[in-house]
Amino acid sequence: MIRQERMRVVKHKEIAHNIFELTLIGQLVHDMKNPGQFVHIRVSDSYEPLLRRPISITSIDRETLEFTMIYRAEGRGTTILSQAKPGQEVDVLGPLGNGFPLDQASDGEHVLLIGGGIGVPPLYELSKRLVDVGVKPIHILGFQSADVVFYENEFRELGETHIVTVDGSLGHQGFVTNVLDSIAEEVSTYYACGPTAMLGALQNALPDTKGFLSYEERMGCGLGACFACVCKTTEAVEVDYVKVCSDGPVFPAGVVQL
Ligand code: FES
Repeated sequence: MIRQERMRVVKHKEIAHNIFELTLIGQLVHDMKNPGQFVHIRVSDSYEPLLRRPISITSIDRETLEFTMIYRAEGRGTTILSQAKPGQEVDVLGPLGNGFPLDQASDGEHVLLIGGGIGVPPLYELSKRLVDVGVKPIHILGFQSADVVFYENEFRELGETHIVTVDGSLGHQGFVTNVLDSIAEEVSTYYACGPTAMLGALQNALPDTKGFLSYEERMGCGLGACFACVCKTTEAVEVDYVKVCSDGPVFPAGVVQL
């Protein structure tokens, strides 16, 4: 069920340069299912900025009814959101989207989780849920530079973790695809979230590995009504296009034209 709820801020802090971790509490958490789903946040009560912002879910705690999300403050909307204080309320619509399938790997199997920048957060709940059922995740997390790296220790606690930065200021230098060769042989499934160029490069690099890609499209309504997030599909599927918000944001590799 999709709800709209004014959820209360429990915690909110900057965890890397312009990267914020926000924890909210409310009934909407009951309806969160698969990791990789997202919420649509209305950042202020005034009409400006009008549009909601899609933000992926980083972790879910059903017992406390809290969930956490991590976002980058870059435009006007997310900069306003970054000023929300504990106790304040935030207008949330969600949970939205399908999320990552959890039944694609079994106990004892290794899987690859690959994230780029602000595509890293949804992989955290995914990794926790896979670990819960005995799957062994290997994380490859790519960032621009050391000052925007976050959750390195949190991912290390769940499994093998490789940090990659474009400028080489932390971990391996380059792109996530640069470290794939030595690791990918052991796995039969990969999950990825990040910029479209990264998803395309992964698809090319891992043609024989089962993959699930989460797309970061610009969104309008988030509910499948406005067509702002439409993507063309490949010949592998019968439909001509998909809507990232309601058909995705996660699609099997090879479905969306990159
Ligand atoms: Fe409106 Fe997807 S954002 S249809």
